[in-house]
Amino acid sequence: RTVYVNGQYLSEHDAKVSIFDRGFMFGDGIYEVTTVLDGKLVDFAGHCARLGRSMRELDMKTPCTDDVLLAIHRELVARNALVEGLVYLQVTRGAEDRDFAWSDAIQPTVVAFTQVKSLAASPLAARGARVITVPDLRWKRRDIKTVQLLYPSLAKMQAKAAGKDDAWMVEDGFVTEGTSNNAFIVTADGTLVTRQLSTSLLHGITRATVLRHAGDTGLRIEERPFSVAEAQAASEAFVTAATSFVTPVVEIDGTPVGTGVPGPVATRLREIYIEESR
Ligand code: PDD
Repeated sequence: RTVYVNGQYLSEHDAKVSIFDRGFMFGDGIYEVTTVLDGKLVDFAGHCARLGRSMRELDMKTPCTDDVLLAIHRELVARNALVEGLVYLQVTRGAEDRDFAWSDAIQPTVVAFTQVKSLAASPLAARGARVITVPDLRWKRRDIKTVQLLYPSLAKMQAKAAGKDDAWMVEDGFVTEGTSNNAFIVTADGTLVTRQLSTSLLHGITRATVLRHAGDTGLRIEERPFSVAEAQAASEAFVTAATSFVTPVVEIDGTPVGTGVPGPVATRLREIYIEESR
């Protein structure tokens, strides 16, 4: 694989980042994952805009223009002949002797790589995901897409250990989001419900696109918090993320959602998302 590190395209075996990088020592970095379908980037503008926002919120230096970021993504897709998968982009604050405070001179570290992944044909989406719920123990700025992913990783491992697929995180009795996706339900009267944007959850790019498609199909939409009990009693549930598109959720903490199989709304929204992304 050819990867990108600070202005250079290199073999993944030759790519190096300093052990003093603050991303490595402090989790002081942000990232984006952009899907590639049929060799094309999906929703790149949205991911790029969110990256800029994450950098501003953390007072990080912008390493390059959006046009350069787009060129890096395209170059990696071309060099690796990527047809279906993702481009991972990470910007960390940079490398310096270890100190909680950083200096004005610090320069960001930019790395990017591609990963092949079968996305459109997903056994999990066909079967429907089973989730457990866990308390949301992350920090309170979840709107910033930082590389501090330890808690979501632990939650995902807990789900796997329980024989399930993923975890939904819960705060004050309400679902914030999944470990790496935004959570939706469809109520008995056919209303699509997802938590409103705030610092409590990531402002998903796929979430925004799916809400637009849902609006176009005439679905009633409510952006508000929902509880685990409301989700268990819903007729459908699903999650959205760049690499999982729309994935139905068929079980929450052992309780089947609706009929316990992927429902028509999630299935239709997944089809529309894939059609529109191609
Ligand atoms: N995760 N919420 C969280 C906590 C996430 O990590 C993600 C994405 C999302 C969905 O955001 P988007 O639709 O913009 O991908 C929501 C990526 C895919 C990841 O970490 O791999």
